[in-house]
Amino acid sequence: MVALAHSHLPPQADTAEFEADVVEGLSAGRKRIAAKYFYDGVGSRLFERITELPEYYPTRTEIKILQDHGADIAKLIPAGAALVEFGSGSSKKARIMLAAAPELACYVPVDICGEMIEQEAIDLRVDFPGLKVLPVTADICRPFELPPEAKAAPVRVGFFPGSTIGNFEPHEAASFLRNAAQILGSGALLIVGADLIKSTEVLNAAYNDKAGVTAKFNLNLLTRINRELRGTFKLDTFEHHAFFNRERNRIEMHLASLKRQKVKVAGECFDFRAGETIHTENSYKYSVASLGALARGVGWMPAGAWTDADKYFSIQAFTYAGEPSKP
Ligand code: AVJ
Repeated sequence: MVALAHSHLPPQADTAEFEADVVEGLSAGRKRIAAKYFYDGVGSRLFERITELPEYYPTRTEIKILQDHGADIAKLIPAGAALVEFGSGSSKKARIMLAAAPELACYVPVDICGEMIEQEAIDLRVDFPGLKVLPVTADICRPFELPPEAKAAPVRVGFFPGSTIGNFEPHEAASFLRNAAQILGSGALLIVGADLIKSTEVLNAAYNDKAGVTAKFNLNLLTRINRELRGTFKLDTFEHHAFFNRERNRIEMHLASLKRQKVKVAGECFDFRAGETIHTENSYKYSVASLGALARGVGWMPAGAWTDADKYFSIQAFTYAGEPSKP
């Protein structure tokens, strides 16, 4: 998984930022570390294992929706359009869209990890001859330039699968959508994958798998801090906590200290009360209506929504006609 901004930067280049963020987060009244830091090499592999767990429905459900409704979604895509994927990683889901929409003239995978998308581009050119594959290395949360061929296309289609939008705070999701509109331009289409609000049991099970892979994924953050930031976390004194916060429509993941203790990171000392947690992730859940309202607020008009039979996950499409007039 590569979706979020800094997930695949080489550790060296970004250690200073990682250190500053962790020290700041552990100094706060409510301790927190951003979810993007889960994805070192080990974390990325653990996430791949999560997507295959019986309890973790989002990935396989989204793929099923794309397979079942790809042709329908493709009806919104005009001939000669450019598909721009935000945080493309391995392009697994884009391949399903590309197969369903042969009218696409070019594919622009955008990811912070240049190495990964360049390699993937080579494979895609073999599998989709006739498609222009034009990777862009960039942070998807900041403005970036599209290649000239994509700018010249009659329409640009944004693609943001994986429910990665759920990792943003709602106001951050709104600024992401605004940034996407700026990059894609008027007349653009945007196809977003979003996990849906559902029963607490199903949600809690998805983030508390029996095999303990999600717990490992969460705790790996401490291993990473120990290795990269001279941390002294004892892994057997912290516990994985994940629960659905119904009031805020989000899964929260925390690492809870099992006892009162002191931990050093990057030469600084941090106190933990017994039971005190580090908040490591929010995964927001939406309804078709609530994501629609958020998108509308920044000028994206709902153009279609597809779900699975259980209504666990959604693919939602929006069109951009310009910023709404402010009251
Ligand atoms: C990659 C952000 C969509 O929120 O479900 C999976 C990450 N965290 N299990 C999600 C995750 C714990 C995942 N996203």
